[in-house]
Amino acid sequence: MRYDPLPKELYIRNRAKLMRLMQPGSLAVIMANDLMPTSADGTFPLHPDPDLFYLTGIEQEETILLLAPEAPDPKLREVLFLRKSSPELETWEGHKLTPEEARELSGVQTIRWLEEFETIFHQLMCVTEHVYLNLNEHRRAKIQVETRQRRFVRWCQERYPLHHYVRLAPLMHRLRVRKEPEELEQIRRACVITKAGFLQALRKIRPGIREMEIEAEYAYQFVRAGARFAYPPIIASGPRACVLHYMKNDGVCQDGELVLLDVGAAYGNYNADLTRTVPVNGRFTPRQREVYEAVLRVQRAMIQAAVVGKTHREWQREAEALIAEELVRLGLLRPEEAKDLESESRPLRRYFMHGLGHPLGLDVHDVGFLEEPFAPGWVLTVEPGIYIREEGIGVRLENDILVTENGPVDLMADIPIEPEEIEEWMATNREG
Ligand code: GLY
Ligand code: MN
Ligand code: MN
Repeated sequence: MRYDPLPKELYIRNRAKLMRLMQPGSLAVIMANDLMPTSADGTFPLHPDPDLFYLTGIEQEETILLLAPEAPDPKLREVLFLRKSSPELETWEGHKLTPEEARELSGVQTIRWLEEFETIFHQLMCVTEHVYLNLNEHRRAKIQVETRQRRFVRWCQERYPLHHYVRLAPLMHRLRVRKEPEELEQIRRACVITKAGFLQALRKIRPGIREMEIEAEYAYQFVRAGARFAYPPIIASGPRACVLHYMKNDGVCQDGELVLLDVGAAYGNYNADLTRTVPVNGRFTPRQREVYEAVLRVQRAMIQAAVVGKTHREWQREAEALIAEELVRLGLLRPEEAKDLESESRPLRRYFMHGLGHPLGLDVHDVGFLEEPFAPGWVLTVEPGIYIREEGIGVRLENDILVTENGPVDLMADIPIEPEEIEEWMATNREG
Protein backbone atom coordinates (compact mmCIF):
# COMPACT_ATOMS: atom_id res chain seq x y z
CA MET A 1 0.00 0.00 0.00
CA ARG A 2 1.20 3.49 -0.71
CA TYR A 3 -0.19 4.92 2.54
CA ASP A 4 -0.69 3.83 6.14
CA PRO A 5 -4.28 2.61 6.40
CA LEU A 6 -6.50 3.79 9.22
CA PRO A 7 -7.37 1.22 11.88
CA LYS A 8 -10.36 -1.02 11.17
CA GLU A 9 -12.02 0.20 14.38
CA LEU A 10 -12.87 3.41 12.51
CA TYR A 11 -14.76 1.49 9.83
CA ILE A 12 -16.50 -0.71 12.41
CA ARG A 13 -17.69 2.47 14.12
CA ASN A 14 -18.72 4.11 10.86
CA ARG A 15 -20.87 1.14 9.87
CA ALA A 16 -22.45 1.02 13.32
CA LYS A 17 -23.33 4.72 13.02
CA LEU A 18 -24.90 4.19 9.61
CA MET A 19 -26.91 1.21 10.81
CA ARG A 20 -28.26 3.29 13.69
CA LEU A 21 -29.56 5.84 11.17
CA MET A 22 -31.29 3.22 9.00
CA GLN A 23 -34.97 2.60 9.59
CA PRO A 24 -36.25 -0.71 10.99
CA GLY A 25 -36.64 -3.50 8.44
CA SER A 26 -34.05 -2.15 6.02
CA LEU A 27 -30.84 -3.03 4.24
CA ALA A 28 -28.25 -0.94 2.36
CA VAL A 29 -26.01 -1.64 -0.59
CA ILE A 30 -22.81 0.33 -1.22
CA MET A 31 -20.57 -0.46 -4.15
CA ALA A 32 -17.22 0.35 -5.76
CA ASN A 33 -17.01 2.77 -8.65
CA ASP A 34 -16.72 1.51 -12.20
CA LEU A 35 -13.37 1.31 -13.86
CA MET A 36 -14.15 3.83 -16.57
CA PRO A 37 -12.96 3.08 -20.13
CA THR A 38 -10.73 5.54 -21.97
CA SER A 39 -10.55 3.99 -25.46
CA ALA A 40 -9.16 0.82 -27.02
CA ASP A 41 -8.35 -1.41 -24.03
CA GLY A 42 -7.51 1.47 -21.70
CA THR A 43 -9.16 2.54 -18.47
CA PHE A 44 -8.89 5.56 -16.22
CA PRO A 45 -7.34 4.82 -12.85
CA LEU A 46 -9.98 3.57 -10.43
CA HIS A 47 -11.43 6.35 -8.33
CA PRO A 48 -12.31 4.71 -5.00
CA ASP A 49 -15.94 5.24 -4.03
CA PRO A 50 -15.75 7.53 -0.97
CA ASP A 51 -18.80 5.97 0.73
CA LEU A 52 -17.52 2.43 0.33
CA PHE A 53 -14.13 3.60 1.57
CA TYR A 54 -15.67 5.44 4.52
CA LEU A 55 -17.44 2.26 5.58
CA THR A 56 -14.72 -0.31 4.87
CA GLY A 57 -11.33 1.25 4.05
CA ILE A 58 -11.41 -0.82 0.86
CA GLU A 59 -10.71 0.51 -2.61
CA GLN A 60 -10.68 -2.63 -4.75
CA GLU A 61 -12.81 -2.61 -7.91
CA GLU A 62 -16.18 -4.43 -7.97
CA THR A 63 -16.40 -4.65 -4.16
CA ILE A 64 -19.93 -4.57 -2.65
CA LEU A 65 -20.89 -3.93 0.97
CA LEU A 66 -24.26 -5.19 2.15
CA LEU A 67 -25.60 -4.00 5.51
CA ALA A 68 -28.71 -5.65 6.93
CA PRO A 69 -28.84 -4.76 10.62
CA GLU A 70 -31.76 -7.07 11.35
CA ALA A 71 -30.78 -10.07 9.23
CA PRO A 72 -32.05 -13.21 11.02
CA ASP A 73 -28.61 -14.76 10.56
CA PRO A 74 -26.25 -12.46 12.48
CA LYS A 75 -23.43 -13.41 10.10
CA LEU A 76 -25.30 -11.68 7.26
CA ARG A 77 -25.68 -8.32 9.01
CA GLU A 78 -22.48 -7.07 7.42
CA VAL A 79 -21.24 -8.81 4.29
CA LEU A 80 -18.43 -7.74 1.99
CA PHE A 81 -18.35 -9.23 -1.50
CA LEU A 82 -15.00 -9.35 -3.27
CA ARG A 83 -13.81 -10.02 -6.77
CA LYS A 84 -12.35 -13.51 -6.75
CA SER A 85 -8.78 -13.69 -7.85
CA SER A 86 -7.21 -16.21 -10.22
CA PRO A 87 -3.66 -16.94 -11.33
CA GLU A 88 -4.40 -15.26 -14.66
CA LEU A 89 -5.82 -12.12 -13.03
CA GLU A 90 -2.84 -11.93 -10.71
CA THR A 91 -0.49 -12.27 -13.69
CA TRP A 92 -2.01 -9.25 -15.39
CA GLU A 93 -3.18 -7.04 -12.55
CA GLY A 94 -1.28 -8.28 -9.51
CA HIS A 95 -2.50 -9.13 -6.08
CA LYS A 96 -6.18 -8.94 -5.15
CA LEU A 97 -7.47 -8.85 -1.58
CA THR A 98 -7.84 -12.20 0.16
CA PRO A 99 -10.77 -12.58 2.56
CA GLU A 100 -8.35 -12.37 5.48
CA GLU A 101 -6.84 -9.13 4.18
CA ALA A 102 -10.27 -7.60 3.58
CA ARG A 103 -11.34 -8.62 7.09
CA GLU A 104 -8.21 -7.07 8.57
CA LEU A 105 -8.71 -3.78 6.69
CA SER A 106 -12.43 -3.37 7.22
CA GLY A 107 -13.35 -5.33 10.34
CA VAL A 108 -16.18 -6.99 8.36
CA GLN A 109 -16.23 -10.63 9.43
CA THR A 110 -18.28 -12.16 6.61
CA ILE A 111 -16.40 -11.99 3.33
CA ARG A 112 -17.86 -13.68 0.24
CA TRP A 113 -17.03 -13.79 -3.45
CA LEU A 114 -19.09 -11.65 -5.80
CA GLU A 115 -20.62 -14.74 -7.42
CA GLU A 116 -22.63 -15.26 -4.24
CA PHE A 117 -24.07 -11.76 -4.13
CA GLU A 118 -27.41 -12.41 -5.84
CA THR A 119 -28.22 -15.44 -3.71
CA ILE A 120 -27.46 -13.76 -0.41
CA PHE A 121 -29.11 -10.52 -1.50
CA HIS A 122 -32.29 -12.41 -2.44
CA GLN A 123 -32.35 -14.18 0.89
CA LEU A 124 -32.15 -10.85 2.70
CA MET A 125 -34.61 -9.05 0.41
CA CYS A 126 -37.23 -11.66 1.37
CA VAL A 127 -37.16 -10.34 4.95
CA THR A 128 -36.67 -6.63 4.14
CA GLU A 129 -39.11 -3.76 3.57
CA HIS A 130 -36.85 -0.77 2.88
CA VAL A 131 -33.82 -0.74 0.62
CA TYR A 132 -31.22 2.04 0.86
CA LEU A 133 -29.43 2.59 -2.44
CA ASN A 134 -26.73 5.11 -3.11
CA LEU A 135 -26.55 7.73 -5.84
CA ASN A 136 -24.42 10.84 -6.18
CA GLU A 137 -26.59 13.68 -4.86
CA HIS A 138 -24.05 16.50 -4.88
CA ARG A 139 -25.95 19.60 -5.94
CA ARG A 140 -23.50 20.40 -8.73
CA ALA A 141 -23.00 16.83 -10.01
CA LYS A 142 -23.60 16.50 -13.76
CA ILE A 143 -23.69 12.79 -14.57
CA GLN A 144 -24.05 11.63 -18.14
CA VAL A 145 -22.92 8.01 -17.78
CA GLU A 146 -24.85 5.19 -16.19
CA THR A 147 -22.72 4.42 -13.15
CA ARG A 148 -22.48 1.04 -11.46
CA GLN A 149 -24.76 2.28 -8.70
CA ARG A 150 -27.30 3.57 -11.19
CA ARG A 151 -27.30 0.23 -13.03
CA PHE A 152 -27.79 -1.52 -9.73
CA VAL A 153 -30.77 0.71 -8.86
CA ARG A 154 -32.35 -0.20 -12.20
CA TRP A 155 -31.67 -3.92 -11.77
CA CYS A 156 -32.92 -3.96 -8.21
CA GLN A 157 -36.14 -2.07 -8.86
CA GLU A 158 -36.93 -4.30 -11.81
CA ARG A 159 -36.29 -7.46 -9.88
CA TYR A 160 -37.95 -6.31 -6.64
CA PRO A 161 -40.59 -3.78 -7.68
CA LEU A 162 -42.65 -3.99 -4.48
CA HIS A 163 -39.95 -2.95 -2.03
CA HIS A 164 -39.68 0.55 -0.68
CA TYR A 165 -36.56 2.30 -1.95
CA VAL A 166 -34.81 4.92 0.14
CA ARG A 167 -31.97 7.39 -0.52
CA LEU A 168 -28.75 6.45 1.23
CA ALA A 169 -26.95 9.67 0.25
CA PRO A 170 -28.45 11.95 2.96
CA LEU A 171 -27.35 9.46 5.63
CA MET A 172 -23.83 9.25 4.22
CA HIS A 173 -23.62 13.04 4.02
CA ARG A 174 -24.74 13.31 7.64
CA LEU A 175 -21.95 10.96 8.74
CA ARG A 176 -19.16 12.11 6.46
CA VAL A 177 -19.50 15.84 7.12
CA ARG A 178 -18.35 15.34 10.72
CA LYS A 179 -14.80 14.05 10.70
CA GLU A 180 -13.60 11.39 13.12
CA PRO A 181 -10.21 11.86 14.84
CA GLU A 182 -8.59 9.22 12.59
CA GLU A 183 -9.86 11.01 9.50
CA LEU A 184 -8.47 14.31 10.79
CA GLU A 185 -5.11 12.62 11.21
CA GLN A 186 -5.16 11.64 7.53
CA ILE A 187 -6.21 15.16 6.46
CA ARG A 188 -3.38 16.60 8.55
CA ARG A 189 -0.94 14.29 6.78
CA ALA A 190 -2.29 15.46 3.44
CA CYS A 191 -1.69 19.05 4.62
CA VAL A 192 1.90 18.29 5.65
CA ILE A 193 2.64 16.75 2.24
CA THR A 194 0.95 19.68 0.52
CA LYS A 195 3.21 22.06 2.43
CA ALA A 196 6.28 20.10 1.28
CA GLY A 197 5.08 20.45 -2.30
CA PHE A 198 4.51 24.17 -1.95
CA LEU A 199 7.94 24.82 -0.41
CA GLN A 200 9.53 22.69 -3.13
CA ALA A 201 7.76 24.82 -5.74
CA LEU A 202 8.92 28.03 -4.04
CA ARG A 203 12.53 26.86 -4.39
CA LYS A 204 12.13 26.75 -8.17
CA ILE A 205 9.84 29.63 -9.10
CA ARG A 206 11.65 32.30 -11.13
CA PRO A 207 11.08 34.27 -14.35
CA GLY A 208 11.06 31.95 -17.35
CA ILE A 209 9.94 28.78 -15.57
CA ARG A 210 7.00 27.03 -17.20
CA GLU A 211 3.92 26.38 -15.10
CA MET A 212 4.17 22.64 -15.79
CA GLU A 213 7.68 22.59 -14.33
CA ILE A 214 6.24 23.92 -11.09
CA GLU A 215 3.58 21.19 -11.24
CA ALA A 216 6.39 18.63 -11.52
CA GLU A 217 7.98 19.90 -8.28
CA TYR A 218 4.73 19.26 -6.42
CA ALA A 219 4.40 15.84 -8.05
CA TYR A 220 7.88 14.91 -6.86
CA GLN A 221 7.04 15.67 -3.24
CA PHE A 222 3.57 14.12 -3.38
CA VAL A 223 4.46 10.83 -5.04
CA ARG A 224 7.47 10.13 -2.85
CA ALA A 225 5.27 10.64 0.23
CA GLY A 226 2.68 8.12 -0.99
CA ALA A 227 0.22 10.85 -1.95
CA ARG A 228 -1.28 12.00 -5.24
CA PHE A 229 -2.79 15.19 -6.56
CA ALA A 230 -6.13 15.73 -4.82
CA TYR A 231 -7.44 17.48 -7.99
CA PRO A 232 -5.91 18.70 -11.22
CA PRO A 233 -3.39 21.31 -10.08
CA ILE A 234 -3.89 24.94 -11.06
CA ILE A 235 -0.60 26.74 -11.71
CA ALA A 236 -1.64 30.03 -13.23
CA SER A 237 0.73 32.93 -13.77
CA GLY A 238 -0.20 36.48 -14.73
CA PRO A 239 -3.66 36.90 -16.30
CA ARG A 240 -4.30 33.15 -16.30
CA ALA A 241 -4.89 33.42 -12.52
CA CYS A 242 -8.24 35.01 -13.39
CA VAL A 243 -9.38 31.76 -15.08
CA LEU A 244 -10.84 29.93 -12.12
CA HIS A 245 -10.56 26.39 -13.45
CA TYR A 246 -7.32 26.87 -15.41
CA MET A 247 -5.57 23.51 -15.64
CA LYS A 248 -3.41 23.62 -18.76
CA ASN A 249 -0.35 24.79 -16.85
CA ASP A 250 1.43 25.39 -20.16
CA GLY A 251 2.23 29.09 -19.73
CA VAL A 252 5.57 30.69 -18.91
CA CYS A 253 5.93 32.66 -15.67
CA GLN A 254 7.08 36.19 -16.48
CA ASP A 255 9.15 38.62 -14.43
CA GLY A 256 6.85 40.97 -12.54
CA GLU A 257 3.83 38.63 -12.55
CA LEU A 258 2.18 36.72 -9.75
CA VAL A 259 1.65 32.98 -9.98
CA LEU A 260 -1.38 31.38 -8.36
CA LEU A 261 -0.77 27.85 -7.05
CA ASP A 262 -3.94 25.89 -6.18
CA VAL A 263 -2.47 22.47 -5.47
CA GLY A 264 -3.32 19.91 -2.80
CA ALA A 265 -2.28 16.38 -1.95
CA ALA A 266 -4.54 13.41 -1.22
CA TYR A 267 -3.20 10.94 1.31
CA GLY A 268 -5.06 7.69 1.96
CA ASN A 269 -7.91 9.21 -0.10
CA TYR A 270 -8.23 12.21 2.24
CA ASN A 271 -7.69 15.55 0.53
CA ALA A 272 -5.93 18.80 1.30
CA ASP A 273 -6.72 21.93 -0.70
CA LEU A 274 -4.21 24.77 -0.61
CA THR A 275 -3.86 27.98 -2.60
CA ARG A 276 -0.99 30.43 -2.42
CA THR A 277 -0.20 33.29 -4.77
CA VAL A 278 3.45 34.35 -4.99
CA PRO A 279 5.57 36.78 -7.02
CA VAL A 280 7.46 35.08 -9.85
CA ASN A 281 10.61 37.11 -9.18
CA GLY A 282 10.35 36.84 -5.39
CA ARG A 283 9.12 40.42 -4.69
CA PHE A 284 5.57 41.76 -4.76
CA THR A 285 5.04 45.08 -6.56
CA PRO A 286 3.24 47.66 -4.39
CA ARG A 287 -0.03 47.05 -6.26
CA GLN A 288 0.25 43.27 -6.04
CA ARG A 289 0.97 43.55 -2.36
CA GLU A 290 -2.02 45.82 -1.82
CA VAL A 291 -4.34 43.29 -3.45
CA TYR A 292 -2.64 40.39 -1.66
CA GLU A 293 -3.01 42.00 1.74
CA ALA A 294 -6.67 42.72 1.06
CA VAL A 295 -7.31 39.02 0.33
CA LEU A 296 -5.25 37.99 3.36
CA ARG A 297 -7.26 40.26 5.68
CA VAL A 298 -10.49 38.71 4.41
CA GLN A 299 -9.10 35.20 4.77
CA ARG A 300 -7.98 35.83 8.35
CA ALA A 301 -11.34 37.31 9.29
CA MET A 302 -13.31 34.53 7.64
CA ILE A 303 -11.26 31.80 9.31
CA GLN A 304 -12.17 33.37 12.64
CA ALA A 305 -15.78 33.66 11.50
CA ALA A 306 -16.12 29.91 10.82
CA VAL A 307 -17.78 29.18 14.13
CA VAL A 308 -20.27 26.61 15.33
CA GLY A 309 -23.81 27.73 14.53
CA LYS A 310 -23.07 29.81 11.44
CA THR A 311 -24.60 28.77 8.12
CA HIS A 312 -22.65 28.64 4.92
CA ARG A 313 -24.89 31.27 3.44
CA GLU A 314 -24.25 33.73 6.29
CA TRP A 315 -20.53 33.08 6.09
CA GLN A 316 -20.46 33.71 2.34
CA ARG A 317 -22.40 36.97 2.79
CA GLU A 318 -20.01 38.18 5.49
CA ALA A 319 -17.06 37.49 3.20
CA GLU A 320 -18.68 39.35 0.34
CA ALA A 321 -19.29 42.38 2.57
CA LEU A 322 -15.61 42.41 3.56
CA ILE A 323 -14.44 41.97 0.00
CA ALA A 324 -16.69 44.80 -1.15
CA GLU A 325 -14.99 47.10 1.39
CA GLU A 326 -11.57 45.97 0.20
CA LEU A 327 -12.55 46.60 -3.41
CA VAL A 328 -13.42 50.18 -2.54
CA ARG A 329 -10.04 50.59 -0.85
CA LEU A 330 -8.37 49.17 -3.97
CA GLY A 331 -10.18 51.69 -6.16
CA LEU A 332 -12.12 48.98 -7.96
CA LEU A 333 -15.64 49.76 -6.72
CA ARG A 334 -17.34 53.02 -5.85
CA PRO A 335 -18.68 53.13 -2.27
CA GLU A 336 -22.28 53.03 -3.49
CA GLU A 337 -21.53 49.95 -5.62
CA ALA A 338 -20.09 48.22 -2.55
CA LYS A 339 -23.38 48.68 -0.73
CA ASP A 340 -25.20 46.43 -3.19
CA LEU A 341 -24.65 43.07 -1.48
CA GLU A 342 -27.95 41.37 -2.24
CA SER A 343 -28.76 41.67 -5.93
CA GLU A 344 -27.96 38.88 -8.36
CA SER A 345 -25.71 41.32 -10.25
CA ARG A 346 -23.96 42.73 -7.15
CA PRO A 347 -20.87 44.56 -8.42
CA LEU A 348 -18.37 42.78 -6.16
CA ARG A 349 -19.04 39.58 -8.15
CA ARG A 350 -16.95 41.09 -10.96
CA TYR A 351 -13.90 40.55 -8.75
CA PHE A 352 -14.96 37.68 -6.46
CA MET A 353 -17.22 35.27 -8.28
CA HIS A 354 -16.89 31.99 -6.40
CA GLY A 355 -17.76 30.46 -3.06
CA LEU A 356 -15.75 31.31 0.03
CA GLY A 357 -15.16 27.66 0.81
CA HIS A 358 -16.50 24.14 0.86
CA PRO A 359 -16.43 21.04 3.03
CA LEU A 360 -13.31 18.93 2.53
CA GLY A 361 -12.70 15.24 3.16
CA LEU A 362 -12.84 12.11 1.03
CA ASP A 363 -14.07 14.38 -1.75
CA VAL A 364 -12.37 17.70 -2.42
CA HIS A 365 -15.75 19.38 -2.65
CA ASP A 366 -17.00 17.12 0.08
CA VAL A 367 -20.54 16.28 1.02
CA GLY A 368 -22.13 18.63 3.53
CA PHE A 369 -25.08 20.91 4.15
CA LEU A 370 -25.41 24.42 2.77
CA GLU A 371 -28.41 25.28 4.91
CA GLU A 372 -27.31 23.82 8.23
CA PRO A 373 -25.18 25.54 10.84
CA PHE A 374 -21.50 24.61 11.05
CA ALA A 375 -20.87 21.95 13.68
CA PRO A 376 -17.77 20.63 15.46
CA GLY A 377 -15.81 18.21 13.30
CA TRP A 378 -16.58 19.90 9.99
CA VAL A 379 -13.52 20.60 7.85
CA LEU A 380 -13.85 23.58 5.52
CA THR A 381 -11.69 25.44 3.07
CA VAL A 382 -11.46 29.23 3.38
CA GLU A 383 -10.54 30.65 -0.01
CA PRO A 384 -11.32 34.27 -0.75
CA GLY A 385 -9.88 35.79 -3.91
CA ILE A 386 -9.75 39.02 -5.89
CA TYR A 387 -9.43 38.71 -9.65
CA ILE A 388 -8.71 41.91 -11.61
CA ARG A 389 -8.74 40.91 -15.26
CA GLU A 390 -7.95 44.41 -16.49
CA GLU A 391 -4.70 44.39 -14.48
CA GLY A 392 -3.75 40.75 -15.08
CA ILE A 393 -3.79 40.12 -11.33
CA GLY A 394 -5.51 37.22 -9.62
CA VAL A 395 -4.95 36.47 -5.94
CA ARG A 396 -6.53 33.59 -4.03
CA LEU A 397 -5.45 32.34 -0.62
CA GLU A 398 -6.86 29.03 0.63
CA ASN A 399 -6.40 27.26 3.94
CA ASP A 400 -8.18 24.24 5.39
CA ILE A 401 -9.74 24.58 8.82
CA LEU A 402 -11.47 22.44 11.43
CA VAL A 403 -14.58 23.77 13.16
CA THR A 404 -14.54 23.09 16.92
CA GLU A 405 -16.52 24.13 19.99
CA ASN A 406 -13.55 26.32 20.92
CA GLY A 407 -13.36 28.06 17.58
CA PRO A 408 -11.70 27.28 14.27
CA VAL A 409 -8.37 25.43 14.03
CA ASP A 410 -6.28 26.31 11.00
CA LEU A 411 -4.84 23.05 9.67
CA MET A 412 -2.47 25.02 7.43
CA ALA A 413 -1.33 27.61 9.95
CA ASP A 414 2.32 26.70 9.40
CA ILE A 415 2.31 27.15 5.63
CA PRO A 416 3.90 30.54 4.77
CA ILE A 417 1.32 33.16 3.83
CA GLU A 418 2.47 36.59 5.08
CA PRO A 419 3.94 38.53 2.13
CA GLU A 420 7.21 39.13 4.05
CA GLU A 421 7.43 35.45 4.88
CA ILE A 422 6.98 34.48 1.24
CA GLU A 423 9.55 37.04 0.05
CA GLU A 424 12.05 36.02 2.66
CA TRP A 425 11.57 32.31 2.03
CA MET A 426 12.09 32.81 -1.69
CA ALA A 427 15.14 35.06 -1.16
CA THR A 428 16.76 32.49 1.14
CA ASN A 429 15.82 29.18 -0.41
CA ARG A 430 15.63 29.62 -4.15
CA GLU A 431 17.84 27.16 -6.00
CA GLY A 432 19.94 27.40 -9.12
N1 GLY B 1 -8.99 23.35 -5.85
C1 GLY B 1 -10.39 23.33 -5.92
C2 GLY B 1 -10.96 24.30 -5.01
O1 GLY B 1 -10.25 25.12 -4.47
O2 GLY B 1 -12.11 24.28 -4.74
MN1 MN C 1 -8.19 24.84 -4.11
MN1 MN D 1 -11.09 24.66 -2.49
